[in-house]
Amino acid sequence: MKIAVIGSGYVGLPTACGLASFGNNVVCIDNDPQKLTTLQSGIIPLYEEGLQELYETVKDKLTFTGDISSVKDAELIILAVGTPMSDDGSANLEYIFQATKDIKPYLQKDAIVATKSTVPIGTNDEIENIINRPDIAVISMPEFLREGYALYDFFNPDRIIIGTDNISVYNKIRDLYSSHIPAEKIIRTNRHSAELIKYASNAFLATKIQFINEISDLCEQVDADVSDVAAGMGMDTRIGRKFLNAGIGYGGSCFPKDTNALKYMADKHGVNLGLVSSTIKGNHDRRFNIANRVNKYISDIEGKARVAVLGLAFKNGTDDIRYSPAIDIIKNINHNPIYAYDPRAMDNARKELGPNVIFTETLKDCISDADIIAILTEWSDFKALEKESFAKKTLILDYRNILDEPTMRSKPNVIYKRIGQKI
Ligand code: UGA
Repeated sequence: MKIAVIGSGYVGLPTACGLASFGNNVVCIDNDPQKLTTLQSGIIPLYEEGLQELYETVKDKLTFTGDISSVKDAELIILAVGTPMSDDGSANLEYIFQATKDIKPYLQKDAIVATKSTVPIGTNDEIENIINRPDIAVISMPEFLREGYALYDFFNPDRIIIGTDNISVYNKIRDLYSSHIPAEKIIRTNRHSAELIKYASNAFLATKIQFINEISDLCEQVDADVSDVAAGMGMDTRIGRKFLNAGIGYGGSCFPKDTNALKYMADKHGVNLGLVSSTIKGNHDRRFNIANRVNKYISDIEGKARVAVLGLAFKNGTDDIRYSPAIDIIKNINHNPIYAYDPRAMDNARKELGPNVIFTETLKDCISDADIIAILTEWSDFKALEKESFAKKTLILDYRNILDEPTMRSKPNVIYKRIGQKI
């Protein structure tokens, strides 16, 4: 199939490379000249595990251009542009509607326009109205790729949702995937259901995280251990262990934006999504609560403390710092300087954080001589701390519970604190 992907970001690029690896010819269209120059020189301008390597193997099937008229050869046009959060919490649809208007004059007969961007219910109806051609099908095909694991998720999806009432269009899209993905994972719904499946899934996962974070707060007051509680709860297959890791709250470009957009949508329809509203507020407050905890520990130290923060990305496996709780926490730690290290996200964080943050070349440089070390992102790289010895008294705040507890507790000079244990 000839496919055009509009938008070369965290969704567009893995999708384009994945579809090219199925044997399709894919053109990626983007209007950012700097990004295009990098892509055209053969470099993937974002960090995503295995993506550069996959790109090398599918190069002959993939082209990058800024020329929107290139959609004219495509049987399938995938919209994968951003739908960022507006000030009122709604999804900003400016880019998706602009992309729709841009492609409209060039669409070949019977082309299919598939929306992968996360868009509010009814957006695909509006896209259809803009295109206004009976031969063009507009379908909703939400993406469920996690950053950092996007290729794994592309090749091993839990489900592929195809939102359309048009059976022959459904069959064509199903055939695109069915030689590589088990048939029972591909389902058809109407367009509105497909749009809502995406929001409901993200909001549910966000709520699951907020739930365990609240339970974690309770654990700290009653001498229970949230890791044990999550393990015990997760053994119930109806609950499941995934997304029960207590921490500093969720971040990224999806959960914060999508929970807010879902609430906005529901409010508009007069429906009270109380759980989602509470999740949004609880998650927002959490980052300030964590910063205050660190501030308290700093003030307890006599003399000038050396403070080290490990992790800037909103989660491991990515260089993305959008709505990263780590960034907000650092901004709210009242200390100068703060030493910081992240294996991938330092370039992005440099643009965001003030001069009081010193970015170190290595993990070792960051923690060297530290009085307080706070772990804010769940990078496995930080497990290197298990092998370190500490020459002076060091408080290690493991706010992602990633270190081995017995190992850390047995270390001379280390005071080891985890999230969701008695404070
Ligand atoms: C999320 C969804 O997981 C994907 O299915 C979806 O496609 C994507 O949003 C999207 O809408 O595009 P992503 O934002 O990449 O993916 O990140 P997640 O892996 O879901 O993590 C989100 C946040 O929750 C991170 O800050 C992470 O640290 C946090 N988290 C996750 C926890 O605090 N505890 C957990 O147990 C799991």
